[in-house]
Formats: sequence, structure tokens, C-alpha cells
Amino acid sequence: MTALHSRAIGRDLLRRDGRLKVTGTAPYAYEGPLGKPAYCHLIQATIARGRVTGMDTTSAQAIDGVITVLTADNAERLASTEDNELAVLQSDEVAFRGQIIGAVIAETSEVARHAAGTVQVTYAQEPHDVELSVDRADLYKPYKINPAYPTDTADGDVAAAMASAPVTLENTYTTAMYHNNPMEPHTTTALWDGSLTMWDSTQGVHSARSVIARVFGFDHEQVRVVCPYVGGGFGSKGTPHAHVVVAVMAARATPGRAVKLALTRQQMFFLTGYRTPTIQKMQLAADRDGHLAAIALDVVEQTSRIKEFAEQTGMPTRSMYAAPNRRTTHRLAALDVPVPTWMRAPGECPGMFGPEVALDELAEQLGLDPIELRIRNEPSVDPDSGRPWSSRNLIACLREGAERFGWAERDPAPGVRRQGDWLVGTGVAASVYPTYRMAVSTATLRYERSRYVVEIGAADLGTGTWTTLPQIAADALGVDVDDVDARIGDTDYPIASVAGGSSGMSTWGSAIVEAARAFRDKFGTDPADGDEAEGSVSPPTGKYAMHAFGAQFVEARVHADTGEIRVPRLLGVFAAGRIINPRTARSQFIGGMTMGLSMALHEQSVLDPRFGHVVNHDFADYHISVCADVGDVQAHWIDEYDPHVNAMGSKGIGEIGIVGTAAAVVNAVHHATGVRVRDLPVTLDKVLAQLTPN
Ligand code: MOS
Repeated sequence: MTALHSRAIGRDLLRRDGRLKVTGTAPYAYEGPLGKPAYCHLIQATIARGRVTGMDTTSAQAIDGVITVLTADNAERLASTEDNELAVLQSDEVAFRGQIIGAVIAETSEVARHAAGTVQVTYAQEPHDVELSVDRADLYKPYKINPAYPTDTADGDVAAAMASAPVTLENTYTTAMYHNNPMEPHTTTALWDGSLTMWDSTQGVHSARSVIARVFGFDHEQVRVVCPYVGGGFGSKGTPHAHVVVAVMAARATPGRAVKLALTRQQMFFLTGYRTPTIQKMQLAADRDGHLAAIALDVVEQTSRIKEFAEQTGMPTRSMYAAPNRRTTHRLAALDVPVPTWMRAPGECPGMFGPEVALDELAEQLGLDPIELRIRNEPSVDPDSGRPWSSRNLIACLREGAERFGWAERDPAPGVRRQGDWLVGTGVAASVYPTYRMAVSTATLRYERSRYVVEIGAADLGTGTWTTLPQIAADALGVDVDDVDARIGDTDYPIASVAGGSSGMSTWGSAIVEAARAFRDKFGTDPADGDEAEGSVSPPTGKYAMHAFGAQFVEARVHADTGEIRVPRLLGVFAAGRIINPRTARSQFIGGMTMGLSMALHEQSVLDPRFGHVVNHDFADYHISVCADVGDVQAHWIDEYDPHVNAMGSKGIGEIGIVGTAAAVVNAVHHATGVRVRDLPVTLDKVLAQLTPN
């Protein structure tokens, strides 16, 4: 691959969509440009398992402004019910609390919501089971883990290494259930007039189209999905959930009239996915110098009874460190719970919690600096695949982070530094995220009224796509970035992969570079109005193991009497290829780190086993870190250009910022107090229980 000359790439250009957003004029999915829409409000099951035996909609129907009430009795039959999550209103079965059992369509959202509350539902309730544990008899081995990795891996003999190594560690770590909470709730505006137009808040217009087309049996040409702006997604908008199907059903019940459906924040805690809780049994064996003889992670997690999602929690353990004996396993419990899904760095994020805390514990056992322990176990090739790294600069991240953070001043012993009533400590953890390039994406490049226009059905989740795609196109064409426009977020543009797996820039950018090259080959440097060329991404060669790496440093302060935890400093250094736009990149890294801090200290979805209900299903009770919770957050990166990953030399950056942060926080809390918390979130009660009174 020929490297691009970088003139626009690397500049910290302002977000092109910034003004529209801060002035409130960027149209989101709920703001589809439509005359007089109808509104849809969902009705949800109040039992966790059983059947709906009756729905009395008489009073709802009688309310002025109600157009119709959809239930399993009158909703249209879907062409495909293969995906049980999307087979909504197709039967009377209830598989989790909060499941959609009906919907009211009305003249206003207020009437729809009010009427939904008047529908009388009777159930035949069955006992439900929502409690995850390691000793369940029904744990099973999924066929594969997300998206298509082997469920278990084994090299050598971990048990033998554990029996013979001079230093071993075996601990269980747990991560909580967490819910994606993008600022913009999930919304869909749908219009049926013989064909379907959907303004849907989605991470991928083309993937949303293909799912909806399959479920309803439509041709792709019959469906247009539009989504120029997204107020965050973190994975929950990576694929349509059941409410999108209901929005389309509602539109088909009112032909020619658009229907708007917005989930409430509370509904999102049941209907748009979440991060599975995990139970991670971790084993490490090492010699006295800290060289690992064995590393093993056995994960237990949950999925829903109606649909399997097997998070790839063990993945980072497969590749992160060198050890001759290695094992990862995944076992699932299928429970009467909502369907789990992707949440920022699914797999890598929870999967770097247990291992990175375990390494900290091992370092302490060995009397070795935790950075040095990681350096001693740096693998020369990917231990899992045996392939060479396209680039791997973890050590550089650790060293530069240590320098910037002031790691050298750290006291080796935990629990010794005190400032007034506060115990002060520091911690470190590593980060990793695979560098994906999706197999399908095409871009069109056209010369239009003396400007270059790129069209691709890509998404901007708030991440910067509107701004960075023109940067890539400009360098690929050798023109000024101000002469390039991008058009994204519409299935009328060429097919683009979903904004997921931190793959967007790498995939769409590669297609754009190909389109630019084709354009120059065809038309030279003096094109005529209307000249147009197309380019597509090619799949990666598979010759290299490709990952971004990082190091996270945390300072924690723990109140000696109350156990209150404060984090005044977060510092991350990342090796993520060439950075396309430092402004939008920094915001991605810092956002990820903040979300990691939130995971460490605050977030936790509390599922009441008696009802199968997430009791803290709103922002009053589900705390997400706010500015007051975050002190100084810094994201830095090392100068990396990876020629093997794509023409830009860039890696994905959307997810790596959250990976490792929670472990670094736990490690810092331990260093401050001597208390080791192994289950997230680290709340003051867990620290206080072990804190020696002074
Ligand atoms: Mo991300 S969880 O791959 O949208």
C-alpha cells in the first residue's frame, strides 16, 4: 500500500457538524421532516416469564386521539421470526420483564403514552430465573463467541503449570450488568407509502435496512433508512431492536402517515441491550522473575432465553501476554432477562478487568513494579494466532505514560501515603482493542460544481465522521480539505459497514482512498463537472495480528473514615496508528476513559431477582460519571503509523479508551488503601468493609 501524503490528515479541524448541533438544527431521527405524524408508545410486560392471556384495550381505544392499539392479536405477521428478539407481537409468550406486548398509536405522544397505561393485561405467570452464578447446572458452551471467534482455546497445560510454578494466583473477578445510555434515546420515525422510509437513530443505515427488509420480507429497494446524526450509541444502536420493528408495524397501520416512536429512558433499560455481567476466574503462574508460565481465564456470563449473545470476554487474554500455557473458556446461562448486546468494547472492556487486576496482584506478590511485569511478558508475536503484530507499542505507551504521570515517585508499598483524611494511591493497567476493517463498504467520489463530493452510507455517532472523511478524501485526492464535502447517513448513498468494532474510519476511509485513486486514474487532476468514480474496501490480508494498545494511569484518593473514592487524575497513552484528527480523537479517548471510570465507580444495573426488573432504570438511580466525578483527564498518543492496517496507517479509536480503565482504578484504590476489591463497581462499602480503622 502506498502511504498517503498527509496534509489534511493530522490536522485538528473543527467538527463540521458542530454549529448545527450546538444551535439545535441538526435533524435527528425523531425530527423527520414530516407534516402531521402520529405517535407510538409501547406497552411492556410486567412479568418476567409466562403468557399474556388477555389485553383489554377498550378504554384505550375510547380515548380521544387514539388511532389504534397493536397487540399480538392484530399485529401483522412478520416474514421472518428467526431472530426472536425481533419477532415482536408474534405470540403471547413473555420471555423477560419489560418485553414489548403492545403499542398505542395516537395523535400525540401524550395521548399515546396515557392510553398505553390504560390497557388492562392479564397473564399466566410462570416462575422465572434471572440469577447468574458459576455453579448453575445449566451453564452451556456457546457454539462461538461474538462475533465469530472460537468459544474456548487451550495451549499447553495450565493445571500442570499452576502445580509446579513457584508463584501462582487464582482469583475470581466480577463485572456488573451495565446499560448503554447514549444521550439521544433510541428513536424511529417511519413512513409507509408502498415503500418504507425510516429515520432511525442507528449506527448503520445499511445494516438497519437489511435487518428490517429481512424481518418484513421487503426488497432492499423498498426500504430507505436515513440517519445523518446520532446522539451516541456505544453499540446499542448497532443493530435494530424490537421497537424499530414496532415502529414499522405502526407505520404500516397508518399508511401515508409517518409514525414517531421514541423510547423513554426507562424503556431503554429493557429494550436496547446491555453489557452482560461477567464472572471471571483468573489463573496466573509465574517464575520468581515474573515471567508467566500460565495465563487462564474462565468466564461465566449470561444471555437471554430467547436469543444468544455470547460476549467474547476472554479474547484479550488470548493475545495480550506471552505464556507457554494458556486457556480461555466461555460458559453461558440463558436466563429470563432482556437480550444483552454490544456495549463499547464488548469483550475487551470487561475482559481486561480480571486479567489486569490479577497482574497487579501478581506484581505485588513478586515485589515487582506492575509496569515491569507487563514488559517482561511482552510477546514477540501474537500468542494466539502466531502471526506477527502489524505494530505493537504497548511498552512505549507504558513508558511514556509513566513519564507523564510521574510513576517514578510512586511508593512501592500500598496504603502508605496519606494526605489529611485521604489515602492516596496510583494504579496502572494496559489497554487493547483489535483493529478491524469490515469486508464491505463502497464510496462514490464526484466532481460537482468545482467541489469534490464523497458519498457513503457511513454514520457519525458524534465521533467526528463528518469531519474526518473529508480529511482522508482530501489527502487521497491531493486537494485542499475545504474543497471536499461528505454526504453520509443515508441508504441512498453507497453501502457502508456499521459503525462498530472501532472499524468505521478504517473501513470507510479505505473505500474513499480507493474511490479517490480510481477518480484520479480516470479523470486526472482536471476533472469536469459530473465526473464520478467508485471505490471499495478490500478485506485485510490476514497476515498480521492487528490491535491498538494503550496504558491507563489513575490516581485515587480514598477517605480513611468513609471509604469515599475520588479520582483526581486519569492519564492514558495510546498507540492507535496515525491519528486522523487530534481534536475528535482526543474526545473519543477521553470519552472512553470517562466511561471506564464510570464503570469502575458508579454504573451498575441492579436486577431484582424477585421481579427480573432493573430497579435503577433511570438517571436518578443509575449514576453515570459527570464532570464533578472526573478530575484531570488526559489522553496522549505515541507517533505510530501502521502500514499494514490501511492506506491511512490509522487504527480504530472509539473503544480502546474504555479498556483497562476500571482495572487501573481498582489497582489505584488498592495502592491507596491496601484493600483489594475484585467486583465492580468499587463502591465505598466494599472498601470500607476491609479498611482498618485508624
Ligand atoms: Mo461498538 S460496542 O462496536 O458499537
